[in-house]
Amino acid sequence: MARDQRDHYYRMAKEEGYRARSAYKLLQINEKFHIIKKGDMVVDLGAAPGGWLQVAKQLSGGKVVGVDLEPIALIPDVVTIQADITVESTAELVKMELGASADVVICDAAPNLSGAWDKDHAVSIDLARSALRAAKRLLKPRGNFLVKVFQGDMFPEYLKDVKKEFARVQAHSPAASRKESAETYIVAKHLLTSPVHIGDILELEIESVGKSGDGVAMVEGFAIIVRGAKPGERMRVMIEAVKPNFGFAKVLEKI
Ligand SMILES: C[S@@+](CC[C@H](N)C(=O)[O-])C[C@H]1O[C@@H](n2cnc3c(N)ncnc32)[C@H](O)[C@@H]1O
Repeated sequence: MARDQRDHYYRMAKEEGYRARSAYKLLQINEKFHIIKKGDMVVDLGAAPGGWLQVAKQLSGGKVVGVDLEPIALIPDVVTIQADITVESTAELVKMELGASADVVICDAAPNLSGAWDKDHAVSIDLARSALRAAKRLLKPRGNFLVKVFQGDMFPEYLKDVKKEFARVQAHSPAASRKESAETYIVAKHLLTSPVHIGDILELEIESVGKSGDGVAMVEGFAIIVRGAKPGERMRVMIEAVKPNFGFAKVLEKI
């Protein structure tokens, strides 16, 4: 069954001129989540042999930059950089190529599998953390991020960290991923640029009442909605959710 499925996408990739069967994973993910749009500037981390680069170029038509440890054979109008994504300065090389902030960062980087699951999982998480750091450096506000991660005990913590940075985050396995594979993709939309993050604890003074009747406090010009709070009240709160234009907090104690 899994082999039939692999052969299906492998054959399709050969027929349709994609360099890797993984091209269909990006096509399927984009069909469902619309992370790449026409005109977008896209960065692909761990991009060899270039299947995702072909798809990214086809979907966006905009500037596309790929990075990999391995050289990538020429793709028309796509820039490639041979570099290590776990090295912080690599993001600067990409930034120089882009000349602006990116709309989308995608990362399909994977370690050479050793067969020792814990080790492969740890390297995968390390790559995904590097990709998240690069995404925060390279994306424009509200930009989108897609990253592959091998499942394992460090996965929930990583997912939590991605959720702190993006407004909408979910894990997804496209049909083109092999059934027996432990890989999953995290689809993260709308990079947040708010001054607060989920889990932050801060002291606030409620300044006004919002449309919903809840209290509103401002942090560096960013609105925090506190259910049931009244103007003039001071309190210690914990940030529970962050949206692009406002956050929600729950009261820990009034002060
Ligand atoms: C599954 S392949 C990517 C396939 C690609 N999405 C495509 O469609 O052609 C994973 C890639 O991650 C790259 N990689 C692994 N570790 C890396 C690192 N530290 N820096 C850059 N690339 C890395 C590997 O060289 C490999 O080419």
